[in-house]
Amino acid sequence: MQFGRFDDEIREYVITTPRTPYPWINYLGTKEFFSLISHTGGGYCFYRDARFRRLLRYRYNNVPTDVGARALYIRDGDDVWTPAWKPMKSALDRFECRHGLGMTTIVGERNGVRAATTFLVPLGETAEIWRLTLSNNSDTAKKLTVFSFVEFCLWNAWDDQNNFQRNFSTGEVEVDGSAIYHVTEYRERRNHYAVFGVNAPLTGFDTDRETFLGPDNGLHEPAVVLDGAPRNSIASGWAPIASHCVEVELAPGQQRDLVFTLGYVENPANAKWEQPGVVNKSPARALLSRFSDPRQVEAAVDALRDYWSSLLETYALDSPDERLDRMVNVWNPYQCMVTFNMSRSASYFESGIGRGMGFRDSNQDLLGFVHLVPERARQRILDIAATQFPDGSAYHQYQPLTKQGNHDIGAGFNDDPLWLIIGTAAYIKETGDFGILSEEVPFDNDNSNTASLFEHLRRSFHFTLDNLGPHGLPLIGRADWNDCLNLNCFSEDPDEPYQTTANREGRTAESVFIAGQLVYAAPDYADLAQHMGFDDEATAAREHGAGMEAAILEHAWDGEWFLRAYDFFGEKVGSHENEEGQIFIEPQGFCVMAGVGLEDGKAIRALDSVAEHLATPYGIVLNQPPYSRYHLELGEISSYPPGYKENAGIFCHNNPWVMIAETRIGRGDRAFDYYRRIAPAYLEEISEIHRTEPYVYSQMVAGRDAVREGEAKNSWLTGTAAWNYVAIAHHMLGVRPELGGLRVSPCIGTEIPSFTVTRRCRGGTYRIRVANSLKHGEPKLTVDGIAVEGTLVPYAPAGATVEVECET
Ligand code: BGC
Ligand code: NOJ
Repeated sequence: MQFGRFDDEIREYVITTPRTPYPWINYLGTKEFFSLISHTGGGYCFYRDARFRRLLRYRYNNVPTDVGARALYIRDGDDVWTPAWKPMKSALDRFECRHGLGMTTIVGERNGVRAATTFLVPLGETAEIWRLTLSNNSDTAKKLTVFSFVEFCLWNAWDDQNNFQRNFSTGEVEVDGSAIYHVTEYRERRNHYAVFGVNAPLTGFDTDRETFLGPDNGLHEPAVVLDGAPRNSIASGWAPIASHCVEVELAPGQQRDLVFTLGYVENPANAKWEQPGVVNKSPARALLSRFSDPRQVEAAVDALRDYWSSLLETYALDSPDERLDRMVNVWNPYQCMVTFNMSRSASYFESGIGRGMGFRDSNQDLLGFVHLVPERARQRILDIAATQFPDGSAYHQYQPLTKQGNHDIGAGFNDDPLWLIIGTAAYIKETGDFGILSEEVPFDNDNSNTASLFEHLRRSFHFTLDNLGPHGLPLIGRADWNDCLNLNCFSEDPDEPYQTTANREGRTAESVFIAGQLVYAAPDYADLAQHMGFDDEATAAREHGAGMEAAILEHAWDGEWFLRAYDFFGEKVGSHENEEGQIFIEPQGFCVMAGVGLEDGKAIRALDSVAEHLATPYGIVLNQPPYSRYHLELGEISSYPPGYKENAGIFCHNNPWVMIAETRIGRGDRAFDYYRRIAPAYLEEISEIHRTEPYVYSQMVAGRDAVREGEAKNSWLTGTAAWNYVAIAHHMLGVRPELGGLRVSPCIGTEIPSFTVTRRCRGGTYRIRVANSLKHGEPKLTVDGIAVEGTLVPYAPAGATVEVECET
């Protein structure tokens, strides 16, 4: 069942009923100010950090799921309704929500009145704009009263839901003309405030929640709106809100716009006050004047559209499969940009007060957005590297506002260091900017202890080599990529988190995943070392890569597939000898992707085992059989009921590793088949089962052992976005930057007989026409009409256009 459709022409997903299976959301904002907005207007916004600078209060796990923190109410005579359907769940003659790139428009119609609101965060602004267009499509004159509503978060979202003994007394507002100011804590240590203004004179306003709603009413029955009479309440403590009341008269056929601006404003410390006790509002007034006219909003909309068009032109596909085109050209890179901005901090499944930026997460996200915003990727790499410790290990997470490593979780996830090599190599392949390797970067953000970025990479590589276990495989530490494989944890206390509890000391538990990761990273690391003139280091790195490959083949081959790990006691994990959890996806994907077992048939065997034991119609599950009981020696993985999350769920992040691995052994058909099983655009028709947005990936789809097989959770913020992009764009369509040129080596099977990719890279444009005839072992290329050896297209000078013909 579908709940909407793709509008490819203008790159929007059009939701045609408010009753989607779950809130289907979008993100607004490109750089500093971000909003989450659901198809019925729910969500919140924040400046840079969803924990420390949250403007709107949003209640997670609410009943019903998605109410607050924004609303618009319309009074039409005695009839009161909400055009976004919620919060009143008004019966609408028509509903439509268009989620586009950084922009959402929600349309509701009732009794001849059409209310269309476009929400956006204009480029360069720290504000959310709502442009409400009211049209009278009836044949009688309409006298409408519009009430806006937002509820403020008292800035620190964590404290906001904990510290009520203080917070119920701190709330403060000011009202000035049509602008309402949220100034809680401004009198003391804050030099920022929020403003919510509208470009029209007010009939009245409200800023106190209880007055606006009435003591016993929810957002679906605000007393002020039902009475049609604003009270001009001034919040003092309790819960500050902002509600404007504006009268709009419309003759038949007439239309009128209201522009609401919800902004974040910072003042310099020495210019906080206009007069003693009066907040300096001049930057807010300037902001409001930039959006006092709907034409200014139109210009901002156009600028935003141009921004996205030019970003997305970097990689443009034209294929016979419209679902593939919309994933590759629009929705997958769009999601990659959102993961770039959010990491795992704020979604409808991540509360914005938890995890901040992940070391491994952000490095992997980078693989999906580096071609879109290379200069921002550069800064991201330097920020991440600055949270590394001198021994090469790394903070697992850091806070976006402060960029400081998060002490609560600390270090000890032994896959983290190698991701920095993988991320940095991707950046240099894209840009050719080897200069980044010479940038001085602190360890642990301590400016008195710095080293070149290359030295950071060297320490990453050697951290892994310095921490090997009895079989010469890397020690797993707290966990590797799979956060839930906690082999040193032995937690029996339900009140301690798996992620932070004290681990047993031991140097036995080894990860085959990290082993594969080292083999994967070694050639890139060696190339970078060589470029820096460290030839001995380069040679040694290649040898270490080969040595690790040998260790995997010798100690981590189970007969039909690669083992997953050795546990604390040196017992096998992910072996046919185990009673449960006999085979895992991660080592099959990562080891083959790294090239392990290509020569002796093990790679093919391992991938056949994946097909046989792990592949399901909804995607490839993480392990089989699932753990049916808690295994103390394995940790969180066995805490999930069978089929969910890391215990035999379809953990979509690792599926593309298998797709890429399949392309390494030339099985494009199978790779593309796996791709379609989880790519959201292909799941649109089963939205009633899948339930999350059909335009973005979710972290997890319940596996075949789950009660709710096929149901997705945790949409938007997942490494799935970046890796699926890499799998399809780089490996199946086969166009990827390497240090020496643009590789053109498609492997996508028979479904896509021909396609064109236009790729911008390092200032040049490459027009690549592929005839996917599958006649040759190795694709045949002509570059500007001349047949070339191999599949590498040398980089052209900036400004050049290169025509590439490719026959597979
Ligand atoms: C989840 C993981 C997540 C981890 C860290 C676990 O409960 O299953 O997917 O990475 O928590 O927050
Ligand atoms: C989600 C986390 O963000 C990611 O870092 C981890 O690799 C996966 N869960 C798998 O556990």
